[in-house]
Amino acid sequence: MNNFTFYAPTYFVFGKEKENETGAYVKKFGGSKVLIHYGGGSVIKTGLLQRVKDSLDKEGIEYVELGGARPNPRSGLVYEGIDLCRKEKIDFVLAVGGGSTIDSAKAIAAGTVYDGDFWDYYEGKPIEEALPIGTVLTISAAGSEGSPDSVITKEDGMFKRGAHGEALRPKFSILNPALTQTLPQYQTACGVTDIMAHLYERYLTNTKDVEVTDRMIEGLLLTMIHEGPKAVADSEDYESRANIMWAGMMAHNNSCGVGRDQDWTSHNIEHELSAVYDCAHGAGLAVVMPAVFTYNMEHDVMRFAKIAVRVWGCQMDFEHPEVTAKAGIEALRNFLISIGMPKNFEELGAKEEDIEYMAHTCCYGDGGNGTVGGFVTLKQEDVEKIYRLML
Ligand code: NZQ
Ligand code: ZN
Repeated sequence: MNNFTFYAPTYFVFGKEKENETGAYVKKFGGSKVLIHYGGGSVIKTGLLQRVKDSLDKEGIEYVELGGARPNPRSGLVYEGIDLCRKEKIDFVLAVGGGSTIDSAKAIAAGTVYDGDFWDYYEGKPIEEALPIGTVLTISAAGSEGSPDSVITKEDGMFKRGAHGEALRPKFSILNPALTQTLPQYQTACGVTDIMAHLYERYLTNTKDVEVTDRMIEGLLLTMIHEGPKAVADSEDYESRANIMWAGMMAHNNSCGVGRDQDWTSHNIEHELSAVYDCAHGAGLAVVMPAVFTYNMEHDVMRFAKIAVRVWGCQMDFEHPEVTAKAGIEALRNFLISIGMPKNFEELGAKEEDIEYMAHTCCYGDGGNGTVGGFVTLKQEDVEKIYRLML
């Protein structure tokens, strides 16, 4: 196991109606003038935004609002948010929505207290300072409610890139599973897929003897396989949504990623798809993951066989472990199809003629060093071959 430090001080408030306590938590963490950031309007339709505002009013906390964060959030709104925070002397940023809203709020929070262009952070500059952030989560997926990460798309060039820094971890996150009951089936399934991807990206490691985190990941994946289809089939099922919500947080606050090298190939390859086609991140991952794993399987057949046996219940073929490894990848592919995810470029709306461009930007675009992947180091030609496996 590698050496590590781990400090994840987000205060989680979990359960029914907890959004009505938002104001009290903003106060607890020192907010006196808040930017409420939200997305395309689902929180207005469901009445959540009003309940959050009522709870701020109850505590006598002032606020201004900025809606419009879209899936695959854009840099333009971040600049707008930064200007607004400076003008209004905002001291706390509250995201009410999904990963896109939270990531946009994080970028605004960091950019407001930075003298330069906030995009510097998305080209690799570590984030050391940001306004405090709180979240009221409405979809289990990205894990941004507990992560020190934010992913933004720069409109100039359509580069989708991530920034990192402990200052981005929310001070508090309110997790009420009932808020996810209004999600369309497709978005629920996209969330399930993303959570599983966060677990796979950590499982695929070259670090030896990391049994404790291997077992945590396997347990969370088994939970997703069991609970995911229930939530997709019945949007009212509170208990499955509760299990998924907590699994989604655990999958990405890095408690199962410490002490090990991680992969992130599938995410890097997917980010090009959602940048170019504006598809849902989870849907892109459903197409990308089986292709990446098939391409990388040779690198460590036993690791793929291990997850096949322990998570997917495949029989171990000791003479031909590659058969077991492959069966595990097929089981993942079939599971994702069964919950309604796309399986190839066509179903995703992606085009063969863009492959070379996407492989190039994936490896070289906006600060890239020519390779991707922590498990297997891949060059542009490898990434091109992986995209071709998705046709
Ligand atoms: O915008 P609104 O109107 O709210 O609608 C959203 C959006 O259309 C809708 N939605 C959310 N909650 C709802 C709801 N509709 C009805 N009822 C509800 N309760 O769902 C759609 C998707 O929302 P979005 O926030 O985009 O979803 P998600 O949480 O999957 O976020 C995706 C973004 O997160 C990034 C992705 O790349 C993508 O840009 N990621 C962020 C990470 C991080 N910060 O740590 C890690 C992830 O790997 C990921 O890359
Ligand atoms: Zn993801």
